[in-house]
Amino acid sequence: MRIYDIIEKKKRALALSEEEIRFFANGVASGEIPDYQAAALLMAICIRGMNEEETFHLTAAIAESGEQIDLSGFGEHTADKHSSGGVGDKTTLILAPIAASCGVIMAKMSGRGLGHTGGTVDKLESIRGYRTTLSPEEFCALVKKNGIAVIGQSGNLAPADKKLYALRDVTATIDSVPLIASSIMGKKLAAGAKTIVLDVKYGSGGFMKTPEQATALAETMVRIGKQYGRRVAALITNMDVPLGNAIGNALEVKEAIEVLKGRGCPALRTLCLALAATVVRLSLGIDEGEAERRVTEALDSGRAFDTLRRWIIGQGGDEAVLLDPSLLPSAPLSLDIEAERDGYISDIDALGVGETSLLLGAGRQTKEDALDMGAGVILHKKTGDRVAKGEPIATLYASEEARLENAKKHFLSAIAYSDNQPVLPPLIYKTVI
Ligand code: URA
Repeated sequence: MRIYDIIEKKKRALALSEEEIRFFANGVASGEIPDYQAAALLMAICIRGMNEEETFHLTAAIAESGEQIDLSGFGEHTADKHSSGGVGDKTTLILAPIAASCGVIMAKMSGRGLGHTGGTVDKLESIRGYRTTLSPEEFCALVKKNGIAVIGQSGNLAPADKKLYALRDVTATIDSVPLIASSIMGKKLAAGAKTIVLDVKYGSGGFMKTPEQATALAETMVRIGKQYGRRVAALITNMDVPLGNAIGNALEVKEAIEVLKGRGCPALRTLCLALAATVVRLSLGIDEGEAERRVTEALDSGRAFDTLRRWIIGQGGDEAVLLDPSLLPSAPLSLDIEAERDGYISDIDALGVGETSLLLGAGRQTKEDALDMGAGVILHKKTGDRVAKGEPIATLYASEEARLENAKKHFLSAIAYSDNQPVLPPLIYKTVI
């Protein structure tokens, strides 16, 4: 078999066989297929597309291109959740302990942030002492003891995706449903959980810009996961505006603790309960109403917060920080942003706020950048709120004066006003199951 012939075939819009797709994925993972030929095939796939069968085979080949985590020792109720990325998205910190409190096993690998989007592993590292790298034995022992552990991504999970993603990033081949679906699901299938719940974002801060695009991606991923023998569902959710009021690592951990203590942003609570209920419903095989009742009880009774404590302490995190979140890292400088006019806030552009947070030091532009754990944005107003000129709408946090000034300009350009109250899109557009 020759990669040249496979490229030629896809160039002519012909469907590739399972053998050809596996030859490609394995050759990329081993380094036998050079970048220029892999990139040529990626572009052909991007333009010509892949049918359902090809997309499934590519996903399976990516999942099986390296280490696969075996969670079978934990039984049938293992679950994972994946978000397609967003701004202020701290849902894992909230829904994972809720689901674990309901008897679901959350043995999870999470990612780091890049660009304007945050990552769960970075947020967890803002908790003093928390270890995101554990030996497999330690990880399994903690999952067995607490029903939950969250670590960083193993280096050898889906290595074909690691190489393909880096190539796609520099060859304008990111925006292809078969390539995105196989990339996300390849990693999720390799991570071993029996239940996978996807939060597919659409909007300015999300990967897909419209709900229709997000639905098409979600339907493909759900179908692939089911064909691979997993229970899968996806929620299509809005990411035009940041999720919750906090953006930035320690600020988001603080907000997650607030929600787990029964307070916090109602929209964030609603989404976390919906995601947790979907995880619980699929994992335990119970109906929707019963799942909603159980997750709400786990949150409102304080059991989910107790699970958070056991989880964080188990991984070396400082309990004092959970009991008194003011002990989390905080930035020494802050700047209040005031409304520029009377009216309604019609937009708080998620992408713009994510970039503001990056400028403040909370994110990284390259994988090597260090993070300022206390930096970020707290929103005092949300879209649809009425404001008077001069009223504080947000506070920016940073460690350097110059960063605050630079970020302020960026933040102001992310805010739009209207004279009439805007009609807001629903937070949860639909569920694909
Ligand atoms: N996230 C991934 O892991 N892969 C993609 O292709 C897009 C988003």
